[in-house]
Amino acid sequence: MLFTSFANGSLALKNRIVMAPMTRCRCDHATAVPNDAMIEYYRQRATAGLVISEGVPVSDRARGYIATPALWNDAQAAGWKKLTDTLHAAGGAIFAQLWHCGRLSHSKLHADGSAPAGVSKKAATAKTFIFDNGRPTQVDCEAPVPLSTSEIKGVVAEFAHAARLAKQAGFDGVEIHGANGYLLDQFRCPHLNNRTDAYGGALENRYRLLLEVVDAVAAEIDPARICVRQSPYGAANDMQPDPEPLKTYPYIARELDRRGIGFLHIYDQSCTWIHDGAHPLMAALRDAYGGALIACGGFQRDEGERILARGQADLVAIGKPFIANPDLVARLQQRAALNAWDAATFFAGGDKGYLDYPTLAA
Ligand SMILES: Cc1cc2nc3c(=O)[nH]c(=O)nc-3n(C[C@H](O)[C@H](O)[C@H](O)COP(=O)(O)O)c2cc1C
Repeated sequence: MLFTSFANGSLALKNRIVMAPMTRCRCDHATAVPNDAMIEYYRQRATAGLVISEGVPVSDRARGYIATPALWNDAQAAGWKKLTDTLHAAGGAIFAQLWHCGRLSHSKLHADGSAPAGVSKKAATAKTFIFDNGRPTQVDCEAPVPLSTSEIKGVVAEFAHAARLAKQAGFDGVEIHGANGYLLDQFRCPHLNNRTDAYGGALENRYRLLLEVVDAVAAEIDPARICVRQSPYGAANDMQPDPEPLKTYPYIARELDRRGIGFLHIYDQSCTWIHDGAHPLMAALRDAYGGALIACGGFQRDEGERILARGQADLVAIGKPFIANPDLVARLQQRAALNAWDAATFFAGGDKGYLDYPTLAA
């Protein structure tokens, strides 16, 4: 089934293999405009049924890493347009992953030197890269400043603006990054969210920001072309797993369903429970949500076929194997050997480990 086509609303995908969103830190930091190397990297991977772009900051303060391509101005949208045109000409489809890093950031990444934005004052024990005298240097994330209620409205507006630019840039849709301990996930997290306003306390309040973002983005883009990413049980980026996952994630799935949101992307950071057909979460999400479910975390061909056959997902997202195998779809189809990925070049900049992984034909 992995190699069969899939249709969702007006979107037709040639297979059910999704290239997972992966930050690669390859663009110019000052402008955050996609460049020719990025265009070539994505073109090489156009045989995925759907590509989800690397995280795309929706504003300067949303940035948490160096050299991440963004979507807050027309020059950035024009850069992405060249990329989406090239990918479409190669037969691909691509969503932009709209991203706000929140507390996983540093003031040196922001043009105005502003401190990271947070749900609360709680700092992350995590690292990021900044430029120190022009050289990428790993540093601790800085303590965030909690967003005021009115600043939260500004963040919602930034996501809506980025969605408008994504449309202008020719993206087929967008993924709202609600996973992995970034800003929208920070609001969900009861260990971090100690707010006493309408965005803290009960589950509905902790998901209020994400749903306001969803509604604002859906005013710009067909809801059937919107995806939301979640990472149940996730602990990456100094998070604590949700204490009530079987209540939390079906809740957000029902809310997305009610809004006709086309895709819900579930990432198992541990690459374990999502492969266990008896685990209750994917079944509960299937009951709660009528759109397309994307499963991610440690999938290759056999694992992918199994979750599709169980009916617990419609599409399978694959990350690291796509970095190392531009022709991953053909390799999986032919059961060919895969190139190994080189983690040292994931965020290293330059073409090595980016554009030079060989195809089968090569
Ligand atoms: C280099 C790298 C960068 C990543 N960047 C992002 C990102 O920008 N946004 C995101 O949601 N996930 C990101 N991830 C997580 C991947 O989307 C994916 O969930 C993860 O690699 C697990 O899939 P895999 O087991 O197939 O690699 C990244 C992963 C890697 C390896």
